[in-house]
Amino acid sequence: MALPETFIRELTEKNDIESVISAYVNIKRRGRNLVGLCPFHGEKTPSFTVYPETASFYCFGCGAGGDAITFIKKIENLDYLDAVKFLADRAGMRMPENTNENDAYSRLRVRVLEANRQAARFFNSYMMSPNGKAGLEYFHRKRRLSMSTITRFGLGYAPDSFHALYDELHKQGFTDAELEAAWLCKRSPKSGRMYDLFRNRVMVPIIDIRGNVIAFGGRVLDDSKPKYLNSGDTPVFRKSGTLFALNVAKATAASDGLILCEGYMDVIALHQAGFTNAVAALGTSFTEEHANLIARYAKKVTLLFDADEAGQKAASRAIDIMGKTGVDVRVMHVPDGKDPDEFLQNNPPERFQMLLEGASNDVEYRLVKVGKKHLLTTADGRAAYLQEAAAVLATLNSPIERDVYAGQLAQNLGVNKQSILKEIERNRGRVKRAEDKTRMTTVIRHSEAQVKQVNPEALKMPRAAAAEEGLLGLLILHPDYIRKAKDKFPPELMATEFNRRVYRQLLERNEKGLLVELSFLSADYTDEEMGYLSQIVRTAADRVVSDEELTNYITVLRDEQARGRGRDPSELSEQDMLAILNAMKESQQGGNR
Ligand code: UTP
Ligand code: MN
Repeated sequence: MALPETFIRELTEKNDIESVISAYVNIKRRGRNLVGLCPFHGEKTPSFTVYPETASFYCFGCGAGGDAITFIKKIENLDYLDAVKFLADRAGMRMPENTNENDAYSRLRVRVLEANRQAARFFNSYMMSPNGKAGLEYFHRKRRLSMSTITRFGLGYAPDSFHALYDELHKQGFTDAELEAAWLCKRSPKSGRMYDLFRNRVMVPIIDIRGNVIAFGGRVLDDSKPKYLNSGDTPVFRKSGTLFALNVAKATAASDGLILCEGYMDVIALHQAGFTNAVAALGTSFTEEHANLIARYAKKVTLLFDADEAGQKAASRAIDIMGKTGVDVRVMHVPDGKDPDEFLQNNPPERFQMLLEGASNDVEYRLVKVGKKHLLTTADGRAAYLQEAAAVLATLNSPIERDVYAGQLAQNLGVNKQSILKEIERNRGRVKRAEDKTRMTTVIRHSEAQVKQVNPEALKMPRAAAAEEGLLGLLILHPDYIRKAKDKFPPELMATEFNRRVYRQLLERNEKGLLVELSFLSADYTDEEMGYLSQIVRTAADRVVSDEELTNYITVLRDEQARGRGRDPSELSEQDMLAILNAMKESQQGGNR
């Protein structure tokens, strides 16, 4: 990524992290730092911290972190270069002129977006013309969409032709390569000619949160197969990272939560009925990325999946994935095995509203699922059911909720409520220990998942990794130590691969006289890696710097090297764990003095 260092330096100076982030997050000063509710995962108590001194942020809850560029990348869903552009615009700076590959790629992206926009216009005006009547009748008569809904969603109709769209866009100056990249046209291997991919289908444009048309879903007008044809991944579209209609739903997501349903037509019908907070994954599989996207905008999500087996499978998958984000998950069904679109054809919105309000939370859903597993007419079955149900209820953090459900369970099974509560308590111990352990890995370095992703070896040799990270943090904050470190400790001795890579890069940059701040590293690391790095820097910022510290790290590293490998973290006793946790908590508070 060949952006000049001087440019990045000016960019980060003109976009101080505090003002960049405060445009999105309500952050309050606490000591030297600022804290607020993390925009990247749902939470009720603030664990998102901004460190003006190191121009970085870090969330103790989800492990997101990095510099201002990383923040913009994540919150605006942009790639690195676009995030830099975004900040340049914000500061009234011009992007440096250069013609490297990234520039060529971002030019292609711009052209693909423009081609999509023109295609959407073409499909829409064709549908409104006499020739496109079949498409309009389909949406308007068959699916009962109003003209204003049709306009709002920019719906259209692709002519029954192999070259109508191609001819139009070619005439407008789009190259074959651009149209292929946009997934609108394709070159036939046989004839060598370009042809349209969407033919004789009603068209639903997929619009991103910034209002760009990034892809299309095209539906047949009859029962032929495949029912939907969707754009493949392109330079501007990744199916697994996009939710249909989030561009509209995001407006009310914070206040009303989101409704997640299965299909394009369900979403459109819901919006038409006034439920403009409905979104859908494109296609059927719901990913962690979708879940994180939802968590970024809403504290509550209602899952509205079809009643058939596939729909129920999809629902329980979505519950599991959503569960990890801390978003409040509810499940609702429409009666008679109908899909939401059909339901709204035959019922007033008020009826839907009632169902929505009555949507059960996922505990009830999980209890029903557990119930189905056991034969409740036998004593053994009931006992097994009770035990599993207690394990489910133990995950509830509110004692009142635990009490209410225990009461319900007692009544249903004809057993004593106290004994159920006791069983739940027993399970609570286990749940809390598991939570503590997760918290420990989060506080010390990261979520276990993030360590696994970024630096998996750290799990096997925590002592070495901790010393490495102490050293790296020190060097990033105080580059004048880099020379000393280099003489005493060559990079080959770093035990974990990720840390070795970072160390090498620091030495290299220092050698060339380049700066080593976080913002200069963000071009070369993924968001996860930036999160990990900013955590390293954050921890280092709380320590007092000395020559002795440097020597200590190096001694530990050499010692670990000599011993071959580090201690397994699972060997830590519970006492050790709690001691470490408390120490970390204190140092966190101490950092605010
Ligand atoms: P549905 O079959 O439930 O579609 O598939 P729908 O939106 O209710 O459509 P109508 O009411 O029959 O017109 C749910 C979603 O699965 C994806 C689409 O995103 C669809 O909205 N899907 C379905 C495909 O991608 N391809 C298909 O062939 C079918
Ligand atoms: Mn449907």
